[in-house]
Amino acid sequence: MPNRESLIIYEVYIRSFRDASGDGIGDLRGLIAQLDYLCWLGIDGLWLSPIFRSPQADMGYDVSNYEDIDPLFGSVVDLDLLLAEAHKRNLIVLLDIVPCHTSIEHPWFLEHKDWYIWYHGDAPPNNWRSAFGGSAWSHYRREDCWYLHNFYPEQPQLDWRNPEVYTAMLASMRFWLDRGVDGFRLDAVQYLFVDARLRDEPASPYPQQTGTVHRDYAALDHVYTMDLPEIFPTLAKMRRDLSGKLLIAEAWNKVEDLAPYAEAAGLVFCFSLLFSAPTAQDVGAVLAASSHSRGLVWALSNHDFSRLATRWGHEFVRLAAVLLLTLPGSAVIYQGDEIGMADGPGGIVPVDRLGRDAFRHPIQWTPSGGFSSHEPWLPMIGREGEDVQSQRNDSHSLLWLYRRLVHLRAELHGPLEEVHVVNEVLWYRRGRHLVVLNFGDRPHAIPAPLSRMEALLWTGSRPDSGLLPAHSGMVGTQS
Ligand code: BGC
Repeated sequence: MPNRESLIIYEVYIRSFRDASGDGIGDLRGLIAQLDYLCWLGIDGLWLSPIFRSPQADMGYDVSNYEDIDPLFGSVVDLDLLLAEAHKRNLIVLLDIVPCHTSIEHPWFLEHKDWYIWYHGDAPPNNWRSAFGGSAWSHYRREDCWYLHNFYPEQPQLDWRNPEVYTAMLASMRFWLDRGVDGFRLDAVQYLFVDARLRDEPASPYPQQTGTVHRDYAALDHVYTMDLPEIFPTLAKMRRDLSGKLLIAEAWNKVEDLAPYAEAAGLVFCFSLLFSAPTAQDVGAVLAASSHSRGLVWALSNHDFSRLATRWGHEFVRLAAVLLLTLPGSAVIYQGDEIGMADGPGGIVPVDRLGRDAFRHPIQWTPSGGFSSHEPWLPMIGREGEDVQSQRNDSHSLLWLYRRLVHLRAELHGPLEEVHVVNEVLWYRRGRHLVVLNFGDRPHAIPAPLSRMEALLWTGSRPDSGLLPAHSGMVGTQS
């Protein structure tokens, strides 16, 4: 098992990774065929987007059977093979478990009514909104009552106050652990519990739309549907019951508010950099706020959020790679970021219900595609040189920079000891290593305290003249 405090996890969005079956949709066999690539990159393991049986109303985040693989992606035998091949290469494999809701087509919805949250009345009991738009309550005609869903109506919310829900979910997690899975990403766990009295949520003092949540949803302060105190003992118990297996909680809070999740689950995603502008001030403020945090898993892109190359711009992708891979804690590389992929046109409405397919286009493996022998489910969008093969053949490519950083990272130890912002330059220290990032669009002098540092890695031209080129980064040691 790699060092749990400092993992590099690669997010495999399975649909768009590699298609072996020839139907235009990525699958487990395709992933197995590319494991050597991931090994070459040097990462510690993979997190696989949902692969369980699902009607795919939310691309697998609507599970209809937690103990089977969706035929779109392969079979349980394929997963066994993936585990064997990944472990042979010292890669750990994390699956995406969706604990807060099931698919409305899960047999539980009919067989275990009391595992869900219902309201009997003429109208919804409160003002709760779904993160994806509309009321969080849908009418269930068969019984003339309302059920709760924090996301799409096809995703009814489970009632975690019913101990049978915990037992059932844990049994499914153990099912995969027994087959050799190393842990789980815990999807959307901020929503595990909702207020038992179903009280109205107040207006948000900062109605800010984050990510792809709906405007009406952002107008409310989610004090009764998110981050409820029962979540933390439940996650801590889950971690104990699963003998300390790796669990990464998905929470969208600011970095300073993630500690309870990190303490309970062991690891928590930190998305604060997704919301930062590419400036030394903004990024420096996030790093300063993170300095006492433990268990963070940093991310600069994911399948729910506009990609880094689009958000910050192509000119920042090298600097961003240095940032992501030199921070203390763990990091996730979203597939395709290592070759500089940007957002694409996405899918067609109503299949792409929220416009998130723009962040999910297939990986360009070769200049002519290399993803599938069939027409891919979303078009290939790689610009010239934005494919794995070309970049593997060019030691100056972004892909090679990622690889060099992944290897250099093994030498970086300890917390962030200093974080400084000087004009458009951000620099920080970890032990004897220093990291300097110039967010400006013009060269800046290397800050005076670093003038005698010995450069180990740099993204632009070699910084001999004491100047850092625009949008460049450098890692060095204090001589
Ligand atoms: C996942 C989304 C999904 C939502 C509901 C999220 O946090 O990353 O893709 O739509 O949970 O399950």
